[in-house]
Amino acid sequence: MAIGVFDSGIGGLSVHHALVAGLPDADFVYLADQANTPYGGRPGEEIVDLTRAGCERLFAEGCSLVVLACNTAASVALRRLQQTWLPGYRRALGRPVNVLGIIVPTIEAATGLPWEHEAERRGDKVEHLDVLGIFSTPATTRSRVYEIEIDKRRQDVAVFSEACPDLARLIEADAPAAELEAVIDGHVAALSRRIGRAPDRAILGCTHYEITADLFRAALPPGTPLIHQPGATAEAIGRYLARHPEYEPGAGGGRRFLTTGRPGPQNGLAERFWGGPLVFDPA
Ligand code: DGL
Repeated sequence: MAIGVFDSGIGGLSVHHALVAGLPDADFVYLADQANTPYGGRPGEEIVDLTRAGCERLFAEGCSLVVLACNTAASVALRRLQQTWLPGYRRALGRPVNVLGIIVPTIEAATGLPWEHEAERRGDKVEHLDVLGIFSTPATTRSRVYEIEIDKRRQDVAVFSEACPDLARLIEADAPAAELEAVIDGHVAALSRRIGRAPDRAILGCTHYEITADLFRAALPPGTPLIHQPGATAEAIGRYLARHPEYEPGAGGGRRFLTTGRPGPQNGLAERFWGGPLVFDPA
């Protein structure tokens, strides 16, 4: 068996990288739905259908567990697929399979609280408000998943989201650094204007943005902590696999990369992030 990692494109490599570091012996199959990237401006129903097709493809490759390394797919499609499609699919397949996302570990890292934690609502005035800025795709921003789930757990954290409609597409297209820098500077400035000051911490809530994390760091005030979504996800998946040996992740250290788009080498930005050549096979 193997672990499947799914994204609309190269962004999920940021999560894959952390997963491989945490589980070096496991077999991995990465699937980039580059024929349909970006997902962030698509209607919800399309995101659900594309995500389901990606999971089916990865299960057909022998994966037991699929990690949606995509905030857009995880925020829009995951719960729906877990509730409506997965139980019947699992029965039909006749083996244990599951799909997990990256939002839960990110919220746990952002709140410092386990997912199961239910905040006790108190009327006390909050003395210090921790302002958390989230950069994400329009579909993730519209889902309000970060605002809703963080507000349930922490009264002293205020979430401000900034939708970045073009950024994943530019990263996917290997746009020049100066263009990426201008777009990222613009979003950081727009968010800071809306808050009235810079955020205290930030989440790069689209896995593509992690590939340009240095540009976000440069645009934010020096030292602004970035919550590391890939690291938080890799730790959570490691703990999950320890609790669920039925999702046996393989032990051959296999690394396969598939794309629904154009097979072959990936763009320079992805390869620089990855630290070497990356060749994708046709999905
Ligand atoms: N990397 C994805 C995310 O985390 C998707 C970006 C897109 O396809 O718009 O949201």
